[in-house]
Amino acid sequence: MSSSARTRRPLAAGNWKMHKTLAEAQALAREIMAGCRDMAAEVALAPPFTALSIVAQEISGSAIRLAAQDVFWENQGAYTGAISPGMLLDVGCRYVIIGHSERRQYFGETDETVNKKIKAALGVGLAPIVCIGETLAQREAQETLNVITTQLAQGLAGLLPEEMSRLVLAYEPVWAIGTGRTATPEQAQEVHRFIRQWLTEQAGPEVAQGLRILYGGSVTPDNIRELSQAPDIDGALVGGASLKAASFLKIVAMGE
Ligand code: PGA
Repeated sequence: MSSSARTRRPLAAGNWKMHKTLAEAQALAREIMAGCRDMAAEVALAPPFTALSIVAQEISGSAIRLAAQDVFWENQGAYTGAISPGMLLDVGCRYVIIGHSERRQYFGETDETVNKKIKAALGVGLAPIVCIGETLAQREAQETLNVITTQLAQGLAGLLPEEMSRLVLAYEPVWAIGTGRTATPEQAQEVHRFIRQWLTEQAGPEVAQGLRILYGGSVTPDNIRELSQAPDIDGALVGGASLKAASFLKIVAMGE
């Protein structure tokens, strides 16, 4: 990371999505652990729910953090198929991804459910990684900053500044996710700067300056360096390139 004034430690989070058996997850976690000593970036792994436990065992005692890909907002009860914040804490999670565009697209996630999930996660001490981003149609209609504002205002509604300070945000343009079409550093930085300005207005400069804003969407070893040099990009949420240790480790090194 180049900005000398920056005090935020970058975060590289690998979102494995619906990939990896137990054996595969264990092997990947082991390879990543072996390869990422003394990294400048913090590292988090988000395996599918079924592999959380085995990855937790594999990384225990290391600086690598465990993340879940989603959570429900109730802590227990008759909610077939759901996983609660307390369960994620129990299995060893530090982070939980909330509001990923795939959850919004395929599973009916809305800014309102995102808001409930954030509050529930914070309530047990998990750190939400909150995903926001516009579709291609919205970008082409020059709606990007309006969409971002709505997602922030509704998704983070009712949070105190102290609660906001415990979030990580991830700007993930939907048109860049899994498409090989990355936002340029300039496109990403414009939105990241806008998000930080919004946070400054809502929660004050201290919270806004301390909070990490990740970029996500076709991040690779080839584009991470340029992206991470943008002053308001504080790391990456990585899908496809996190499924192999070699490419993920290069991203963790932020192209250095
Ligand atoms: P991608 O996914 O890196 O495969 O584009 C990013 C994400 O969905 O978080």
